Amino acid sequence: MIIEKKWAICIFLLFFLNCLSVLNAQQSMIDYKVDSVLRLMTLDEKIGQLNQYNDDHLVTGPVTIDKDKATQIRQGQVGSLLNCIGTARTKKWQAIAMQSRLKIPLLFGQDVIHGFKTTFPIPLAEAASWDLEAIKLSAHIAATEAAASGIHWTFAPMVDIARDPRWGRIMEGAGEDPYLGSLIAKARVNGFQGKELGDTDAVMACVKHFAAYGAAIGGRDYNSVDMSDRQLWEVYLPPFKAAAEAGAATFMNAFNDLNGIPATGNAYLQRTILKGKWGFKGFIVSDWGSIGEMIDHGTVKNGYEAALSAITAGNDMDMESRSYKNNLAQLVKDHKVDIRLVDESVSRILRKKFELGLFEDPYKFCNPIREQKALNNPNHANAARQMAAKSIVLLKNENQLLPLSKNTKTIAFIGPLVKSLKQNKGFWDVEVPGVDSNFIVSQWEGIKHKLNATSTLLYAKGCDIEGDDKTGFPEAIKIATEADVVILSIGERRDMSGEAKSRSNINIPGVQEELLKALLATGKPVVVLINAGRPLVFNYTADNAPAILYTWWLGSEAGNAIADVIFGDYNPSAKLPVTFPRTVGQIPIYYSHFNTGRPVINDSNHLYKSAYNDLSILPKYEFGYGLSYTKFNYSHLQLSTHKMKASEQIELSVTITNTGKYTGEEVVQLYLRDRVGSIVRPVEELKDFIKIKLNPNESRQVRFVINKEKLSFYNKNLEWVAEPGEFDLMIGASSADIRLKDSFELVN
Ligand code: BGC
Repeated sequence: MIIEKKWAICIFLLFFLNCLSVLNAQQSMIDYKVDSVLRLMTLDEKIGQLNQYNDDHLVTGPVTIDKDKATQIRQGQVGSLLNCIGTARTKKWQAIAMQSRLKIPLLFGQDVIHGFKTTFPIPLAEAASWDLEAIKLSAHIAATEAAASGIHWTFAPMVDIARDPRWGRIMEGAGEDPYLGSLIAKARVNGFQGKELGDTDAVMACVKHFAAYGAAIGGRDYNSVDMSDRQLWEVYLPPFKAAAEAGAATFMNAFNDLNGIPATGNAYLQRTILKGKWGFKGFIVSDWGSIGEMIDHGTVKNGYEAALSAITAGNDMDMESRSYKNNLAQLVKDHKVDIRLVDESVSRILRKKFELGLFEDPYKFCNPIREQKALNNPNHANAARQMAAKSIVLLKNENQLLPLSKNTKTIAFIGPLVKSLKQNKGFWDVEVPGVDSNFIVSQWEGIKHKLNATSTLLYAKGCDIEGDDKTGFPEAIKIATEADVVILSIGERRDMSGEAKSRSNINIPGVQEELLKALLATGKPVVVLINAGRPLVFNYTADNAPAILYTWWLGSEAGNAIADVIFGDYNPSAKLPVTFPRTVGQIPIYYSHFNTGRPVINDSNHLYKSAYNDLSILPKYEFGYGLSYTKFNYSHLQLSTHKMKASEQIELSVTITNTGKYTGEEVVQLYLRDRVGSIVRPVEELKDFIKIKLNPNESRQVRFVINKEKLSFYNKNLEWVAEPGEFDLMIGASSADIRLKDSFELVN
C-alpha cells in the first residue's frame, strides 16, 4: 500500500514536471518567434505596433479622425484598433493589415465591461452578489460573445477602489473594499481569459486604471489623486496585484496624476511595481490620449517629451494620442530613448498576438457562424437573469411586504423607468451592430409575465427622471388608489453614472421622491425600486417607503430578475459592496476607517469628538448590508486556539441557522481589528466571507482560517508584516451588524 502511494506520488511529480517543461517550451518557442519577427522590423514598423487607433464607428473619448487609417495599417503603422465590433468589420481591417510588409495581425480591443450583446448588471451591482463564481461566469459569457464577434481584448476589469459616490465611474468597479475587490478582480480576469488565451471563448483582460484613479479628489472624474504610500499599498493596489497574479494579459494606466506624477508617466507604478516587483509579463496600454494629456498636466512641454516620459515609465502602447507615432523615431535618433525600450514594448505586444494565435490565423475570431451562435445563445440570457437577481439588494421590508403574491388582484406599476428598455443596460453597454433593443426585458414585461391571468397590472409614468413637471401625478395617484399594492420604479438615467459622469448632487433627481410622497398619501403599500449606477442619497424614501429594492442597472434581463425577486422566486441575497452616505457632506465615508484620537462612541455625544455638528456619524446603509426574506441566526463561535504563532493558524467555526420561512442565502462576513499596531489600524477590515444557502430550519457550521497573511499589513517601511498582539474577531451579517465576537493573540 505504502509502495503504491510512493509510486503515485512519483507519477504525479513526473506528470507535473512534464507539464512545466511543456509550458516552458511553449513560452520559449513564443519568445523565439517574437525575436525572429522583431529582427525583421524597421523602427517605423516597431513604433506602429505601439500605436492604437479608434475605429470611427463608435467613440469612447475625444475624437481624432484619421482619414488615412487604412493606408497607415497597410504600411504597418498601427498595432491595434479599438471600438471595432463584429466579424465583418474586424475581418475587413485585418485583411488590410495582411497587406502590410510583415503581415503582423491587428489586435481588436473593446470596452466589454458588463456583457457584450447579453448585458449583465453593472460591475458594482454584480459585486453586491458577493458570488465569485457567478461573477466569473458573467465575465466568461461576455468574453465568449465578444470573441465570437471579432474582439481579442477587453478593457476590463476596472479594479479601482472607489469610496466616493460622486465619482461616476464607481459603477464600473467592485466598490470600496480591497479584500472583496481583490477576489472579484481575480474572478473577472479568470472569467474573461478562460482556460487559455487563444481559445475562441477567451479575450485578454486589461486591468485598469493603474493606479488610484478611484480616489480622484472631490469625486471629479480625471482629477488629481494625492495619497499616502500606506493607503496606496493597503487599499488601492491589492486588487491590481490580485489581477496580475491571476495572469491578466494587459494593464491600462490612468488619467490621474498620483502625488504629482501622471500615472501614464509614472515609472514607480509601471516599472518598479508592476513590471518589477510583481513580474508582470504582459503589456501596458495608455488610457485614451493620456500620453498627450501629460502636456495639460504640466509635467511635459510637448508630444516629444510626453512620448519620452511614457515609454521611459513603462507605458507600452499609445491609445489614441499619436505621441509615439509622431515622436518616438526622433527620440531614438536623438539617443533620448534606447531602442531596447522600444523593443521591449514591441515584444510584449507581439507575444500576446502569438499567444492569441493570430499569427497562425489572423481571422481566427472572425467566424460569422460562431458569431451568430454565440450572440443568440439562450443560456446567456439565463445566466444574466440569475446574475441580475443575485445583484438586487433588499434595503427595507417592513411587515414582510415582500415578496408579493402572484395572485395580487391589482398592482399599479408607476414611474419613469417602468417601460424603458435601454435604461436597464446602464453605462458601458455595447451597441452590437444589427442588434436592436427588443431583446431587453423591461421591468413592465418582467412583472407582467409573472402575474397570474386574474391579476391586473396598471401603469402610469408619474413623472420624468429629471425636471419639475408634476402633471403626471394625478394619473399615478388614481391608479394607486385602484390598486392593492404599488410598485414605484425611480432613480437615475443610465448615463448619469459612468465615465465623465461625476455629480455633486447625488439625490434621486427631479420630483421622483415627491411622487413617492403623493403615492404614500393614498395609504397603499409602496414597493420602491431604485435604479442607479452609484449609491444615491434618498433619505425620504429610506425613512418612509415600507419596502425598497436597490436594483442598480441590471442589464438585458432586468425585468425578469426584478420580477423573480418581487414575487419570491428568488430570495434576495445581495449585500452592499460600498457604504451609502446620508448626505454628500459625509463623503468620503467607508467602513474600514481609523478610530482617531477622539472617536465618537455614540451619536448623542459629539462634543469635541471627530464628528459633524449637524449630522450623524453613521452612514445610511453600511458596507455589507442587505436583507433577505428569511432570517439567519449566528451562534457557537468556536476558535481552535486563542493564541497563535506566525507559523500557525486558528481554525474557527460558527453555526448559521435559517430561522425564517424561506430558503435563502447569507453572506457570513469575518472582520478583524488589530488593536495596537506600529501604525494606526482600521476599526475593522473584511478578511473573509462565505455565501451559504439554507432551507428553513436548516443549520450549517461554516469554517474560516486565520493565518499570518490575514493579520499582515504594510508597516511604515512598506514591509508586509504581522505584528504580535491582540486582535478582535467579529462575525457579522454586515460591517455594522456584528453578531458574534471574540479575540485572540498573535505571539512571538
Ligand atoms: C476610459 C477607459 C476606456 C477607454 C477606451 C477611456 O476614456 O477611461 O476606461 O477603456 O476610454 O474606451
